[in-house]
Amino acid sequence: MAAMRFTATLCVLLHIVVICNAGVTSSYVRKSEPSIDMPVGSFPPPTGNNAPEQVHITQGDHVGRGVIISWVTPLLKHPNVVTYWEAEGKHKRRAHSTITSYRYYNYSSGYIHHATIRNLKYDTRYFYELGTHHVTRRFSFTTPPKVGPDVPYTFGVMGDLGQTYDSNQTLEHYVSNPKGQAVLFVGDLSYADNYPFHDNVKWDTWGRFVEKSTANQPWIWTAGNHELDFAPEIEEYEPFKPYLHRYHVPYKASQSTSPLWYSIKRASTYIIVLSSYSAYGKYTPQYEWLSQEFPKVNRSETPWLIVLLHSPWYNSNNYHFMEGESMRVMFESWFVENKVDLVFSGHVHSYERSDRVSNVKYNITDGLSAPVKDPSAPVYITIGDGGNIEGLANSFTQPQPSYSAYREASFGHAILEIKNRTHAYYTWHRNQDSEPVAADSTWFYNRFWYPMDETSSSTNMV
Ligand SMILES: [Fe+2]
Repeated sequence: MAAMRFTATLCVLLHIVVICNAGVTSSYVRKSEPSIDMPVGSFPPPTGNNAPEQVHITQGDHVGRGVIISWVTPLLKHPNVVTYWEAEGKHKRRAHSTITSYRYYNYSSGYIHHATIRNLKYDTRYFYELGTHHVTRRFSFTTPPKVGPDVPYTFGVMGDLGQTYDSNQTLEHYVSNPKGQAVLFVGDLSYADNYPFHDNVKWDTWGRFVEKSTANQPWIWTAGNHELDFAPEIEEYEPFKPYLHRYHVPYKASQSTSPLWYSIKRASTYIIVLSSYSAYGKYTPQYEWLSQEFPKVNRSETPWLIVLLHSPWYNSNNYHFMEGESMRVMFESWFVENKVDLVFSGHVHSYERSDRVSNVKYNITDGLSAPVKDPSAPVYITIGDGGNIEGLANSFTQPQPSYSAYREASFGHAILEIKNRTHAYYTWHRNQDSEPVAADSTWFYNRFWYPMDETSSSTNMV
């Protein structure tokens, strides 16, 4: 009896410092196997001389009426034209690309094209065609509905993808899901930097690998540490050089001064993308931009406020433990004051979903440093489980901290279905299951319009 009382007291004490096990550590154990890159030969260029390749699209303005179409022509600068038209119409328009290229150590890129097409109709399917005469490639995309508070919209969420056989499983699972209309990508794309001299051919093969999705729906890009490609030992001093040449985003439309942080509105969401690997201390450009960004968010227009950043703030995995802490200290109070709904991160190669918690009371004099439940705080989701060459992060801290609602060391992706201004349904799909199975699922309630407790809505199916 005395022992039971002691245990109960200990649990209360532990709960106060928030380390009592309250969430779910999945009992699913993935077979531990090395993650192996698919060979370069798995990704041949498309047939035809100088055929456009590595096609990808992203949002091209602040509201969803613009699209940036990007592609590579390996041998010649031209053709540098995209032809596009409404699926239901006949009138064809043309847009010219800007062309860039770069050298990285002993690698020379092809000609990288970026064409921004604007003033498209909302909620409309368009075809577009690249190339001319003998070699043309045709794709299509659908613009989002007009920005508005009750517009349903469904995002896929992926991160840390790489180009292994596991990456392929993740992508194939996502592509097989008919719901996803755009992808929130939380950084670490090709993992070219894991090869000698950051073999940039791996950037090309990655572009071909993901084309089946990126050519047909926008991927919203976030920069991760594997985009840095900072390698002074081979005299490559310019951070983010390959990434910034290859992946353009509409940063100027949100008054940002850098493509590494920006925002967009899409349907009923306001999405803020931050850079974990750019300066964010007080007075820095990113800090100043974000301070001016939050007041621009009108929840009557875009109820759902979502942030993408690479290095997670709430991570109970031993891999990359506490790496996001300095950015959390800088920005978490803003996230709580502005009632951010969801924060998606990558970096850690496993999956974790938090409860709504904050840790904003701490200062250098008061010693209060434990996360507490907070209905104004975001849910933090770590989804760096795309399946890259570095393998799984399969070592969680013990015991599971109470802020951690669900965690599992498996590869997978998520689907976020925004239903209206109050409700969104969220599912996480591990690669070992068939796509309709959700290993983790929950309703999210909007923090501005319906700030109710969601914890009873979780339906973990482990
Ligand atoms: Fe990372």
